[in-house]
Amino acid sequence: MEHYLVVCLILVWSFCLQRSYSAESTLHYKLSNGEEISCVPIYEQPSLKSLDHDPYLMIKEATFIPSDQSTEEQTQEIPDATQIKVAAKQVFQTEVGSCPEGMIPILRNQGSRISQHGVDSINGKVEHKVTSTKNPLISDPYFDLRDHEYATTSLSTSGTARYFGGRGEVNLWNPIVEFRDEFSSARVAVSAGSYDQWNLNLLVAGMKVDMGRFGDNYTRLFVAWTRDAYHTTGCVNLECAGFVQTNSGVVIGGAYGTSVPGGSQYFQYFSIEWHQSSDAWWLQVGQRDVGYWPNSLLTVLRTGATKVEWGGEIINGKHSGTRHTQTRMGSGEFADARSGGVAKPNWQRAAWISALQTVDQYNQWVDAPLASLSIYNTKVKCYNAQKFQGDAEWRTHMYYGGPGYNRDCLT
Ligand SMILES: *[C@@H]1O[C@H](CO)[C@@H](O)[C@H](O)[C@H]1NC(C)=O
Repeated sequence: MEHYLVVCLILVWSFCLQRSYSAESTLHYKLSNGEEISCVPIYEQPSLKSLDHDPYLMIKEATFIPSDQSTEEQTQEIPDATQIKVAAKQVFQTEVGSCPEGMIPILRNQGSRISQHGVDSINGKVEHKVTSTKNPLISDPYFDLRDHEYATTSLSTSGTARYFGGRGEVNLWNPIVEFRDEFSSARVAVSAGSYDQWNLNLLVAGMKVDMGRFGDNYTRLFVAWTRDAYHTTGCVNLECAGFVQTNSGVVIGGAYGTSVPGGSQYFQYFSIEWHQSSDAWWLQVGQRDVGYWPNSLLTVLRTGATKVEWGGEIINGKHSGTRHTQTRMGSGEFADARSGGVAKPNWQRAAWISALQTVDQYNQWVDAPLASLSIYNTKVKCYNAQKFQGDAEWRTHMYYGGPGYNRDCLT
C-alpha cells in the first residue's frame, strides 16, 4: 500500500515538474528595434521537427554539435570616429546576449511571407507550420530567376578539383529597395551543378533587405539552399526544413547596424565550410558556428563545391513597365566610387567584401587567386563588381554595387 502511494506521489510530482518545464520552455523578448524573439528548444526547429515526415532529411545521421559560445567577437569599438571598421552585432546580442543552453532564438514578428510559410505565433506558442522541404519560393507568384541581377566575383574549379569552403568579410549597408517584392542582398555562396541541368546545389548566407519576407527594410541575416535550382526544393532561413541551427546566440533573420557613407564601416564575417566529421556544411557568422546543412540534403555538392561566389544580388521586379528598378545594391554606389584622384575605390563609400578565401583539397584556407577570379555583372550599367589585391588585412577583395535605374540603366 505504502509502495503504491510513493509511486503515485512520484507520478504527480513529475507531472507537475513537466508542466512547469513546458511553461518555461519558451522565452520571449521584445527588443528596442521592435523585433520579437522567442527562445525555443532546439528540437522544435523545422529541420528537426520534420524528421518523421521527410524521407530526404536524414538529419538524424548528421552529428549534432552544440554551439560554441567560447569564440565571442572581441571587437568592442565605438562607432563614432571616421576611419573605423566595426564587427557588427545583432540587436539581440547587445540587448539579451543569447538564449539558454539547448534553445535557439527565433524571430517572431516577420512579414507576410513568413506568417504563411514559417514560424507563427498562436496563443503565445510558437508554431512551425511548414515541416517539409517543399519550396515556398516556387509558390511565390513573383519568384522568377530571370528578374534576378548580380554583380559578383567567383572562382570555378577545373576538372575534378573541388572547393570545401568559402569565406569573406561582408561590408554591411542598408540599400533602398524600391518595391516590397524586390530584395537587395550581399552574400557568400558555394555551389555545384547547374541551372540548365536543374541540379544546381546552392548554399548561400549573407545579409538582405527584403520587405516582403521580413515586413520591414532592416538589413537582416539570411541563409538559403536548394538542390535542384529551386525547381522543387529550397528554403530561406528557418521557414522550412533544411538548415539546422545549433547556436543559441545568433538570430537567423536578425537585424544588424549598417555603415555610414564616409564614416563607420560595419562588416560581418561569413564562412561556409564542409566538415568531414559531421558530414555537413557548417555556417559561421562572426566566428560563431551558427548551424549546418547536412550533406544528406544535397546531391552533387556532397563531394565538394565547383564554384564559390561573393557579391550582390537584387530583384528587378519591373513594376514600372520596362523601367529598371531603383533598388540599390551595396551602398548604392558603383564599385569604382572614388575620391579625388585615388586609384582604388573609397572603402567608406563603395560596398566591399574582403579576405576572399576558399578551402582547397588539402583542407587549407587559401586566398582567392586574383587572376582566377571571374567577374559577373548582369547589367554593368546598373550594378558592377571589381576585384583587387590588398594587404594582409584586405587580402583578395572586391567592390560591388550600384544605384539601379539611371541614365545608362533604363531597362
Ligand atoms: C525604411 O523604411 C522607413 C519607414 O518606412 C523609411 O522611413 C526609410 O526611409 C526606409 N529606409 C530605406 C533605406 O529604405
